[in-house]
Parts: sequence; structure tokens; C-alpha cells
Amino acid sequence: MPDTATQSQARERASRHGQSHLFRYWEELNPAEKDTLAEQVLSVDFEQLAALHRDLVVSHGSGPAADEGPITPLRAKPWDGFPIAERAAYANQGMRALREGKVAAFLVAGGQGTRLGHNGPKGIFDIGLPSRKSLFQLQAERILRLSRQAGKTIPWYIMTSEDNHAETTGFFKDRRFFGLSERDVFFFKQGEMAVVDDAGKVLLASKGRLSMGPNGNGGCFLALAKSGALDDMKRRGVEHVFFYGVDNALVRVCDPHFVGFALAEGHPAASKAVIKAQPEEKVGVLCLRGGKPSVLEYSEMTEEMIYAKGDDGRYRYDSANIATHMFTHAFLEKHAAAALPFHVAHKKIAHVDASGALANPDKPNAWKFELFMFDLFPLAGAMAGLLVSREEEFAPVKNKDGVDSPASARALLLDLHRKWAIAAGIGEDELRGKLVEISPLASYGGEGINTALIRSQLGNPIIHVS
Ligand code: UTP
Repeated sequence: MPDTATQSQARERASRHGQSHLFRYWEELNPAEKDTLAEQVLSVDFEQLAALHRDLVVSHGSGPAADEGPITPLRAKPWDGFPIAERAAYANQGMRALREGKVAAFLVAGGQGTRLGHNGPKGIFDIGLPSRKSLFQLQAERILRLSRQAGKTIPWYIMTSEDNHAETTGFFKDRRFFGLSERDVFFFKQGEMAVVDDAGKVLLASKGRLSMGPNGNGGCFLALAKSGALDDMKRRGVEHVFFYGVDNALVRVCDPHFVGFALAEGHPAASKAVIKAQPEEKVGVLCLRGGKPSVLEYSEMTEEMIYAKGDDGRYRYDSANIATHMFTHAFLEKHAAAALPFHVAHKKIAHVDASGALANPDKPNAWKFELFMFDLFPLAGAMAGLLVSREEEFAPVKNKDGVDSPASARALLLDLHRKWAIAAGIGEDELRGKLVEISPLASYGGEGINTALIRSQLGNPIIHVS
């Protein structure tokens, strides 16, 4: 616990960096709050913050320097384009790696989900399925099912943030890890960054607390190393890491097809992609910069790039990044501590203002500095892309309503499950007007559908295969 000397050291440090306002309400704080504030102030790298404010806010830098060479497409290979025998070979190779315990799942779930407007970890969100399963439960059950199919437990590494760690771990404990063994689920927190105003002053979230936020999903690599998760993987013999984000309700965690494809391609990294819904869709696409793999953000694309087509009729930049990747463990071990560039975002952040009141701004007032995970891609040198079916694999939960919302994700998942039932032999007519939900514990990707169980429920509006 900091003593008075520590507290005065914190004050001195803040004053040296032009951040004395952080102690504006000092006299109103109780001893524990004073300790917390002093500790927080001592943990902030004010030099780094000042440099980021200077380069990215005052000089209006847009992020990393753009001198990486010419931008060209990195076009993902369509899964459907492979002959059946090749697809089977990939699937077998992926299953073999899973069976040998060489694959781990790595979830980044430290985000704040501001667009969704949900307070708390996004993974606990219930998208309104008949089963009321949360995103975490859907993922856990897919891992469980696949582990059973492979005959080997898939270890699961989950990155949280300071804000949502306790709630995330509590959610898993309360639900007994959804049937997984607690020993095989490894939680760790990502780093934080202080949030500043236009003048570069750190905001106060309350009178005794700095406004801090997670340092972006790119903070995952250092956190993976620092937390001991990378070592834990090594101890278990993990050689390949399946990385994904929390908000895709259709994510096929550790998909054997993709695992096998990544292994066969043999690069340090591989990425799953879907075709852009339309050329104007505001998503990042896979690309090469100076020949190295990267992601091209929508805002960086010229009109010409958006509409350019290749000889095969495909848009040249059509492979949308869905935050689903494979990395070799060796690659992560080598580059986990790489200095990735920070990006900046202008956001509306509630804070305690100079009058001591809590201000809820109606326009952006604060600057957040974040690391992006895909800034690690160039270090891979080369990367393979696999283009998969959007309807079957991508149902993002980003916004409260409309596009990429819980409602659209729910509809996509239920549509897919209906298709699985029809492919297994149930008539389309029989399912008219009914909702079909199939538990991941019963089927990972449409295999082994129990048609008798479905038929027995045809009298109900909701058919649930568990
Ligand atoms: P998003 O970029 O969609 O951010 O995250 P978000 O925080 O979930 O949502 P908004 O932008 O505030 O609405 C993509 C993935 O990266 C994770 C998220 O949890 C999600 O899985 N992420 C994001 C982190 O793990 N840490 C971060 O600091 C940011």
C-alpha cells in the first residue's frame, strides 16, 4: 500500500508532466482512494502519452507511418474452390493437430463494446436465441464439442480487461465453465492506457480515479507473454493458436478446416476472411504493403481501389477481415513484445469536470490510444487467407440494432441451423414458420443432426436440439 512518500512522489510526477489537475479533489478522498489515485498516477507512462498526443492529436497523425511500400491485394483462397479431396485433406490435417493437442483457442474479449451499449463483457450478452445462450456459452460449447470429436481437450485462453475481468471470470464460475474443465481455461488481463482531452490532460473518471481504457486488441500479444499464457501453451505442447474476437456469434472456434489449411500453407500466420457484402461495406480487407501482409482499412481505400476488379471478376480488395486468425506459437513467442504503433480514436467519454460534476458529453471530447492486433501481420512476412461463407461463419454483434446487431446475428444463426436441418433431410415445408436452434453440443458445423429429435418437435413453434 503506498505510504505518504509514494503519494507525494505521485503528486510530483503528475506536476512534472503538467497533470496536477489529477489531484484537484485530493482533499475529498478517503485514505484508500488516495492510495488508489497515487498508484494509478505512478503506473501511467506520461512521456509516452505526451508523445502520442503530440504526434496523433496535435499533428493530426492518422496512425502508423505510411511508408511501407505499395499496397496490393492479399486475396483469400475460397474454401469452396478447393476440390473435395483437398478439403477433406485439410480437415484431416486440422483434426490431427487438434487430436495431438497442438491447437489452442485464444479469445480477445477486453473490448468495451461501446457501440452495442451493453454494460459489461460482450461475451455475456444474450442475443435472444430460444436457448438464451450467451456468446461465451456458444463458444464454450463449440470448444467442448470439438474437443470431444478430437478426443483431446482444447485449452482456451481468454483476454479480459481491467474493467471486465471480474465479471467475466465470475460468469464462467457461476455457470461451471459450461462443462469445460476450469484447468483448461486461462484468463488474463490486457494493458491499459489513460484517456486524454484535447489538451493532452488525462481525464478523471471520478474524483479519485483516472480515466483508463483497455489498450486495444493489439495489446493481446504482450499480455499473452506477460501473463504466462504463452508459457502455459508451450508446456501443453501447443504449436498453433486460433485467435478470434468475442462478437461473432457464428465463430467456428478452432475450425479444423482452417487449422488444416493454415498448417498446410505453412506460414507463421493465416487469416479467415469473407467476401465484402458490397464494395462500399465499411470493413478492413486483407492486403499487402510492400509485399507484407496487412489490413487495409476502409478509410484508407480510394474510390478506384473500392471498385477495382481482377480478371476473375472478383473485386481486387474483397477479402474482409473478420478477426479470425491462426498464428504459430513460435511466431507469437518471437514477436509478442514487438512495439506496435498506436492508433487514435476520438470518443465521447464521461468524466469529472473542473467543477467537480460528472460531465456526459454529447460530442467527442476525449482521445483514446489503441494498439491494433493486425499491426503484427507484417512481421509474419507472408500469410495465407481462407475465404469462407459469410452466411455460415460471420454474424457480428457490434451495434445495438440494424446492421451487425444482436437481431441480425440471431437471424443468421437460426437461418443456418434451419439449413442444417433441411440438409439432414427435414422438409422445408415442415419447418415453415418455425425457429430451429441446434446446440453446439449436438453439432459443431452441421454434422450429426438428429432428425428424429427434430421431427418429434414439429408441433412446436420452436425446435431446439440440445
Ligand atoms: P472492437 O474493435 O469491435 O471493439 O473489438 P469493442 O470494444 O468490442 O466495441 P466498440 O468498438 O467499443 O463498440 C474487436 C475485438 O477486439 C476485442 C473485443 O473484445 C473484440 O473481441 N478488444 C477490443 C479487446 O480485447 N481489447 C480492446 O482493447 C479492444
